[in-house]
Amino acid sequence: MTLLVTGAAGFIGSNLVHHLRRVWPERQVVSFDLLSYAGNLENLDGVRGDAGHVFVRGDVASRDDVRGVFERFDVTGVFHLAAESHVDRSIVDAAAFVRTNVNGTVVLLQEAARAWRGRTDVLFHHVSTDEVFGSLGADGSFGPDTPYAPSSPYSASKAASDHFVRAWHTTYGLPVVVTNCSNNYGPYQFPEKLIPVVISRALAGEPVPVYGRGANVRDWLYVEDHCAAMVAVFANGQRGATYCIGGESEVCNLDLVKMVLDEVDRARGLEPGRSHGLIRFVEDRPGHDFRYAIDISRIREELDWWPSVSLREGLRRTVAWYLAHQDWTERARRGDHRAFEELWYADRLRAAERAAAEQEEQR
Ligand code: NAD
Ligand code: DAU
Repeated sequence: MTLLVTGAAGFIGSNLVHHLRRVWPERQVVSFDLLSYAGNLENLDGVRGDAGHVFVRGDVASRDDVRGVFERFDVTGVFHLAAESHVDRSIVDAAAFVRTNVNGTVVLLQEAARAWRGRTDVLFHHVSTDEVFGSLGADGSFGPDTPYAPSSPYSASKAASDHFVRAWHTTYGLPVVVTNCSNNYGPYQFPEKLIPVVISRALAGEPVPVYGRGANVRDWLYVEDHCAAMVAVFANGQRGATYCIGGESEVCNLDLVKMVLDEVDRARGLEPGRSHGLIRFVEDRPGHDFRYAIDISRIREELDWWPSVSLREGLRRTVAWYLAHQDWTERARRGDHRAFEELWYADRLRAAERAAAEQEEQR
């Protein structure tokens, strides 16, 4: 059996490839990735020289690239992760999100259906997000039957891709599963997402931007747990079904940022709390979803999966990884990403610094 993983050089994709080689060593893995700003071949160093692994550089939105993979390999399973994944970038420019997340998914569906021609011993696993469901108030949680209400250009593009995947199931009988997961964290996460932003900035002694007052709530899942969930769904999930995956670890952003800073302090032999002074409250993200929470009963009851790594333990492992890979983070923050950081954060941070200075003067 040959498994195609799209977005394999990104954060979750690279963790998944390593996980698949460990749990299913008899299955070949074909990693497919365009190597956008967020993709990094170094993330796949752990499978370099592995005879059961092949890397192919290509674009999911290119019919020729995708058809080439299906012609070259007898792919019988797809894990589709390739995407533009950062909400803030989608607010600045949505075009790449439509191209990769919507058009790319449709191209992949067309080519999978063409190669598989009605086979039922195959599976297209679409990896999606809880953000398609929109925002929760103080109570409640998202489940597989929650109506879609995406807020950001990113989540709108992922919602569209989910609908296309289900349409291919209904219209053409393509065997599919869809998973909608909450916020992942762990090794190889690009330092544009909250947890690696906090770690990398704290290590560099730079201010740590918290949007609004840090009251927004996210549910956090250690990436290795997400990989185990995807494997469980791929292996035994009902075809055509949706599974919601979450960490049952809800926390508001300000508390999370403090937890991460405390881990960084501990890892450097400092008193926890030392780095809290780096926190800056900055102008909020437009359309910022207030709260996400996941009801994981379907995957727990049907597939016997639940999160195994506590938030504290996951953060300890994550901080240790980033401390040991500061050169990786430095390289990722260079170039294109530096330009985005300047565009997105510079004015916000300057305004926060001015407000802090004014407050200090008034005291
Ligand atoms: P990421 O940005 O780290 O990785 C995305 C990968 O896709 C990169 O390697 C990039 O090079 C590749 N890519 C981008 N455009 C491509 C294209 N046109 N063709 C081929 N490859 C392309 O993202 P991630 O955080 O690892 O997320 C992976 C998937 O999981 C996404 O579909 C995302 O929506 C979903 N997801 C992420 C989270 C999370 O918390 N990170 C949670 C739920 C779902
Ligand atoms: O819920 C799943 C989603 O989680 C995935 O689909 C997305 O691909 C992934 O990026 C993530 O989206 P978020 O927008 O929740 O993640 P991010 O790390 O960007 O932000 C987490 C929270 O922290 C959010 O409420 C915004 C806030 N934030 C973020 C950054 C980058 C800050 O306060 N400061 C920051 O600098």
